[in-house]
Amino acid sequence: MESIKMMKKTYTLAALLLSAVAGFAHADEAAQMKRGKELFLTAAVPACAVCHALKDAGAEGAIGPVLDELQPDAARVARALKDGIGAMPSFKATMSEADIAAVSLYVSKVSRAK
Ligand code: HEC
Repeated sequence: MESIKMMKKTYTLAALLLSAVAGFAHADEAAQMKRGKELFLTAAVPACAVCHALKDAGAEGAIGPVLDELQPDAARVARALKDGIGAMPSFKATMSEADIAAVSLYVSKVSRAK
């Protein structure tokens, strides 16, 4: 009996821990999405919205591809930001890894949310 109680306790603890971790991950993603949108619209220098159209951001830039049509995954966005591509400058010198990850997540999610 005692051991069953112990097991139950252990399971409950494990479940609590797991949901706490999931909760953190969720909050983290929400924060990244918020930061990503901010970077897209204004915080990146130059801002993505100057050159790109993206519905979720209300952006209508026409120099680069329409991101709602391109629907890049996060890795593709991050690669373009780090290396630059064609007329698009690299953001490696002006953007932190965390910001690159945030805007990449944001663009990949909202452009592919159909
Ligand atoms: C000065 C204008 C300009 C700015 C600012 C700009 N881009 Fe671009 N972007 C372009 C152009 C032009 C291309 C197309 C390059 C090519 O394919 O030759 C492009 C391509 C891309 C691509 C496609 C890459 C691929 O693999 O085909 C993504 C994704 C992208 N931009 C995201 C962003 C994000 C996110 C930002 C902001 C952090 C941003 N861009 C800022 C002009 C810009």
